[in-house]
Amino acid sequence: MTIQEFLKYAKKNLNCFQTSELKYELKILLEDCLNMNTDALIINKDKEIDSSKLIYLLQAVKMRKQGFPLQYILGSWEFMGIKIKVGSGVLIPRDDTRVLVEDISQAMVNKRDLKIIDLCTGSGCIAFALEKALGNNAKIYAVEASEEAYKYFCENFKSLNSRVCGAKGNVFEFYSNFEDNFFDAVVSNPPYIKTSQIKNLQKEIQYEPTLALDGGEDGLYFYRNICKLWISKIKPGGYLAFEIGEGQFQEVKSIMLHSGISNIQFKKDINGIIRVVTGIKIAETPKINDL
Ligand SMILES: C[S@@+](CC[C@H](N)C(=O)[O-])C[C@H]1O[C@@H](n2cnc3c(N)ncnc32)[C@H](O)[C@@H]1O
Repeated sequence: MTIQEFLKYAKKNLNCFQTSELKYELKILLEDCLNMNTDALIINKDKEIDSSKLIYLLQAVKMRKQGFPLQYILGSWEFMGIKIKVGSGVLIPRDDTRVLVEDISQAMVNKRDLKIIDLCTGSGCIAFALEKALGNNAKIYAVEASEEAYKYFCENFKSLNSRVCGAKGNVFEFYSNFEDNFFDAVVSNPPYIKTSQIKNLQKEIQYEPTLALDGGEDGLYFYRNICKLWISKIKPGGYLAFEIGEGQFQEVKSIMLHSGISNIQFKKDINGIIRVVTGIKIAETPKINDL
């Protein structure tokens, strides 16, 4: 089968996808598998595809037809110019998360000897992007509970030759490993989908781990408990930044204010949805039992 014949076959089999989305996916799949750029694919369109590569490509079409995410088939996905290894068991880095990384990078720019922790790190995409953005000015820590996701974090840590200090742990317990007023910034993109909504998510997302999605009955479980347990670990004047789901701003803002975080700000994503909420810890931290 030639490249052109494969494209015809794939388009026929994946006609349930939007044309522009399908065109983009097939371009990425072919570029990755055949190690050719778009121009080379066009020039070589009548060239026979090597049999082992063809088997992989046909299998990829079959898996995509079932909704299996392209990113898992490829085994990696680019996030802010960083190649992040992914597969079943770890959340695929989303472009929306860029807003969170950019916000913290801007807030921390020109500061030195920073200590920042990424809670619920998954593949580590936020931690590695912060490391790239802040360089030697920051020591980045990262915590992830899932065994499978943490394996991907470790693979990325190695392939990126990173210095991020990662640990497998539960964020609802791990806070006790740090002294009070330790971090300049605590950042998290936690699970934030309401439990009842998970079954209604699009097919691709259903292949991603429930542990990465399930934010409890009202979707706010992690915001409430991270604020409660981690606030004492932030230095006075330090920063707390969350990625949030659509429509969660008012509730997350209220949780943060109630925990002793002030100067609440938000940032919108490319679609105009409030995606990031940030705030500054006021000097006095309420005791956990007072909250
Ligand atoms: C929404 S995903 C975000 C992953 C990554 N930070 C990103 O932006 O792509 C949430 C992550 O939290 C992890 N997680 C869930 N419960 C946790 C807990 N109690 N402690 C630590 N990590 C947890 C999940 O396994 C998942 O990797």
